[in-house]
Formats: sequence, structure tokens, C-alpha cells
Amino acid sequence: MPLELSQQARQRIAAVRARYPEAQAACLPALWIAQEELGYVPDEAVALVARELGLSAAHVFGVVTFYTMYLRQQPGKFLIQLCTNVSCWANGAYDLLAHLEERLGIKRGETTRDGMFTLLEVECLAACGQAPMMLVNDTYHYDLTRDKVNALLDELRVKGTGHA
Ligand code: FES
Repeated sequence: MPLELSQQARQRIAAVRARYPEAQAACLPALWIAQEELGYVPDEAVALVARELGLSAAHVFGVVTFYTMYLRQQPGKFLIQLCTNVSCWANGAYDLLAHLEERLGIKRGETTRDGMFTLLEVECLAACGQAPMMLVNDTYHYDLTRDKVNALLDELRVKGTGHA
């Protein structure tokens, strides 16, 4: 079945478009709406956003591939984004990244075979005062240690499988 945006998503994009004199200005929020709905922004979604905004697919493709906040591949149930920028780096982010890779059995940029976790290394997420930190889906986790990461992974795995 071809990918399509819901009526609600299309209305949201239309509302965003109406706020700006030029359609290009609505491209970032429109892509975000598409990602919220679909979980990622593959080429078909790029075409849908282009259609909704009356822009060329080439323009929208240029935008979506420039910003790392847009996911081009379907992520796992839990998207882990570990910051390795300066404050987090100085507080052990790379040790945590290696630990996450080992615990999950994947490298950064990959998804576990069961589709549960995707691990990404990202730039500053603006929580430098509580480094090292990571974002899991929409939730920030601060002042991380290996023990905190282990506890969180265990908790997420239970949530993800529905087994208490
Ligand atoms: S350096 Fe990691 S949140 Fe800013």
C-alpha cells in the first residue's frame, strides 16, 4: 500500500503553510509533522510533503538530507540518541556509547534485530549542564552512568515486550 499522510497531518501541514508567505519556510515543520506520523521520512514521505507544500521533491529532499533530526530509515521502537558533544564527551559519553553498543549488540546507526532499539550518536541536545545525557524517543535522561543506562535498558525492554 502506498504511503499516505492522514487527513489530520495534512491539515496540520496546511496550517503551518498558512503561517508563512513562502512555502519553503514551512518545509522544516512539515517534515517534522510527517516524521511524527510515520516515524521516519523515506523518499515517499518526501514526495508527500512536497505535494502538500507545492514544492519540488528535489527541494524537500535537500532539506531532509541536510538535517540530522530527520530519520531516513525506520527506527526501532526505542530511538536512543546519545550526545557526544563537548560536555557529554568530557563526562564519559564515549564510554557510554561503547557500553550501549556492547549491551545492545549493535554499532551506532544500527537497529537491534528484534526492532526494539536504534542507537544514534548525536550532537549537543542542549542539556550540557547534566552531561552525559541521551534522548530516548521524547524523553531526556541526564547524568548518566553505566548503571543508569543498564537500568533504563532493562526498563525499556520490559516496556517494549509488554512483560512485567
Ligand atoms: S554537550 Fe551533550 S547536551 Fe550539550
